[in-house]
Amino acid sequence: MRQGTGLAAAVLLGLLALAAARDYYDILQVPRSATDAQIKRAYRKLALKMHPDKVQGSEEEKKAAAQKFADVSHAYEVLTDAEKRKVYDRYGEEGLKQMGNGGGGGGGSAQDIFSQFFGGGFGGFGGFGFGGQQEEEETPKGHNVVVELEVTLKDLYLGNHFKVVRDKNVVKPAPGTRKCNCKQKVVTQQIGPGMYQQYHKQVCEDCPNVKYERESESLTVSVEPGMPDGHTITFFEEGEPILDGEHGDLHVVLRTLPHPSFERRGDGLMYNATISLLEALVGFERQIEHLDGHKVQIGTQGVTRPGEVRWYQGEGMPQFEKTTRGDMWVTFSIAFPRAISDEQKQQLRELFGGNDEWQRKDEL
Ligand SMILES: *[C@@H]1O[C@H](CO)[C@@H](O)[C@H](O)[C@H]1NC(C)=O
Repeated sequence: MRQGTGLAAAVLLGLLALAAARDYYDILQVPRSATDAQIKRAYRKLALKMHPDKVQGSEEEKKAAAQKFADVSHAYEVLTDAEKRKVYDRYGEEGLKQMGNGGGGGGGSAQDIFSQFFGGGFGGFGGFGFGGQQEEEETPKGHNVVVELEVTLKDLYLGNHFKVVRDKNVVKPAPGTRKCNCKQKVVTQQIGPGMYQQYHKQVCEDCPNVKYERESESLTVSVEPGMPDGHTITFFEEGEPILDGEHGDLHVVLRTLPHPSFERRGDGLMYNATISLLEALVGFERQIEHLDGHKVQIGTQGVTRPGEVRWYQGEGMPQFEKTTRGDMWVTFSIAFPRAISDEQKQQLRELFGGNDEWQRKDEL
């Protein structure tokens, strides 16, 4: 019976993991409205960070990183192909599979996509890595925006999606022109026969004028099961814009609302249960409702001591980006009777007075 339940749970978990395959836009950390250029820049940042050659750690961590790298590459490949993106937007991954190419990892290998993107000769990792970063530092970047999103423990247990509406500055065309791409230039001027004067002058180009306008934008924030409190979900270039530069990023920071019965510690869950003195002595049956509604049996046939903590393996929070779960600890308090009548005292003495175990005064 127990075995059967365990198996069913395992199968269910497997299904959930499948269903929770992450959205391509989430993987690239861009909104669904992202432009091609935005997607390319997001890929570039993520691919550089996640490239297997760059990740250090245990075999398991490397494997996870390689998987992420493959996911990022695949998402990039689909979303920068106008036709595939259209199919994906309408029919999801399933649609792509039917299209023939790439739903489940067909198409180019992650490494090929990477090499194409960063230019052929994939010889020296250092070369492109550093080159890329330097170039990035020269471009001015708009301010990053940090917003907090309050989520419940249940959201973090099961995962959830939130529509977040944000007012942000958007660059719009405006009449006229403006100075742009300004550079300091040394100008040499003849001021008389054989006499020259040199001075620095700012030389600019004329660009079409622009203005900032406030626009409401709606973003979908995907909270994945097991994300820790304070976890930051980044949307590349969804922060404040800057003229002739790269937009800042939007950081959504998760804040967990207190839960009335569970307390989270890492991937563990704490629960306080109060039982009666009689239950503490003779045993009891009790079930608690977990965050997703499933029941956990916390009863026992044995004796429960005040403050006793029992361990329920696998009943904690899901571990972020893993298929494993933390554990749950239940701390038992005992509600002693407020008073005992003389008659009850007499009965208790008669029942237990002659029993050594009831006379113990040492700690267990
Ligand atoms: C359990 O009780 C302790 C002591 O009163 C308290 O500090 C803790 O926050 C409680 N935990 C939960 C999950 O309510």
